[in-house]
Amino acid sequence: MKICLITGSTGLVGSEVSMFFKDKFDMIIGIDNNMRAEFFGEDASTLWNRKRLEETIPNYKHYDVDIRDEKAIKNIFLNYNKDIDAVIHTAAQPSHDWAAKDPLKDFTVNANGTLVLLEMTRQYSPNAVFIFTSTNKVYGDIPNSLPLVELETRWEIEDRHPYFKEGIDESMSIDNCKHSLFGASKVAADVAVQEYGRYFGMRTACFRGGCLTGPNHSGTQLHGFLSYLMKCAITGDQYTVFGYKGKQVRDNIHSFDLANMFWYFYQNPRSGEIYNTGGARHSSCSILEAIQMCEEITGNRMNYIYSDANRIGDHIWYISDIRKFKSHYPEWDFQYKLHDILSQIYMGMKDRV
Ligand SMILES: NC(=O)c1ccc[n+]([C@@H]2O[C@H](COP(=O)([O-])OP(=O)(O)OC[C@H]3O[C@@H](n4cnc5c(N)ncnc54)[C@H](O)[C@@H]3O)[C@@H](O)[C@H]2O)c1
Repeated sequence: MKICLITGSTGLVGSEVSMFFKDKFDMIIGIDNNMRAEFFGEDASTLWNRKRLEETIPNYKHYDVDIRDEKAIKNIFLNYNKDIDAVIHTAAQPSHDWAAKDPLKDFTVNANGTLVLLEMTRQYSPNAVFIFTSTNKVYGDIPNSLPLVELETRWEIEDRHPYFKEGIDESMSIDNCKHSLFGASKVAADVAVQEYGRYFGMRTACFRGGCLTGPNHSGTQLHGFLSYLMKCAITGDQYTVFGYKGKQVRDNIHSFDLANMFWYFYQNPRSGEIYNTGGARHSSCSILEAIQMCEEITGNRMNYIYSDANRIGDHIWYISDIRKFKSHYPEWDFQYKLHDILSQIYMGMKDRV
């Protein structure tokens, strides 16, 4: 029996991975306590997604358990033991801004929760491949010191800079910068995941995400950039653009393409790896450009206002260099570009919101 255990299974990435892996494993164990609703309010609840998984995946078993609850997590591992062949850990407090509201909760979910999962995997399922969704916020605000130029609709890095062509690679320092409390809790988890690879020889990887997105995000103001933007485009709710003239650049990867990266890693795993991952040059946009696309797709004019204050530590320009992953797994490639992603978000959301 081969089991894939997925934390945060009713969130954007976890649900995509559950769907992607359902035919590749005998059983999918999903762990999610809908804490997203506690963080961001009922609007961000993922219960609809849990229902969808339970209805469409016959071999899906859900555990409404907090990843910090060592005893409950231990019981799950004790029960399935060495049958667990993959652990895809996506449960998190995912918002930069929210973390400052309750640093204790942010840190215990992101750092302690990850440690509980690593340790249970080591004790009961040491051969399982352990994949962790880290973040580009581990680099803090260092990307904001890159030499940038202002274009009409976006910030861009100087074209002579080594990052111009392919984006930011894994050699960027994670020190001497402002991370936000969220970045700090994710760094702690990221380093622990690397260490369980290097110290204990487990097959672990950190995928340091740019913007992870797709139709199954329960988007909300504090988290889920494109999903929340499209939600506002559909409903007419007011959207606030925070600082940098709305020209800040993000690279966006469809959660399907990310799940496929995990699949490649699972089949041929390595130890203690880190990979920058995002839409790269292939699928990047500024907020202004994304607003324009949402207007084209919905046919609605967006109701947005501009606030001069940027989010603390928010990146002005971030594009992931994904060549390290591609060099290890050359057969992997993107299936979706930005326009496909936004169209899918629109189709998935228009009846739901
Ligand atoms: N979405 C992005 O743009 C982005 C970018 C970089 C990194 N990431 C990382 O990717 C991962 C997945 O992000 P997402 O966008 O799918 O987030 P999400 O909020 O949609 O999914 C996370 C899920 O984890 C669950 N959860 C939270 N705390 C929990 C706990 N203590 N116990 C059990 N379940 C809990 C939530 O209820 C939610 O369903 C996170 O680790 C996040 O930090 C996301």
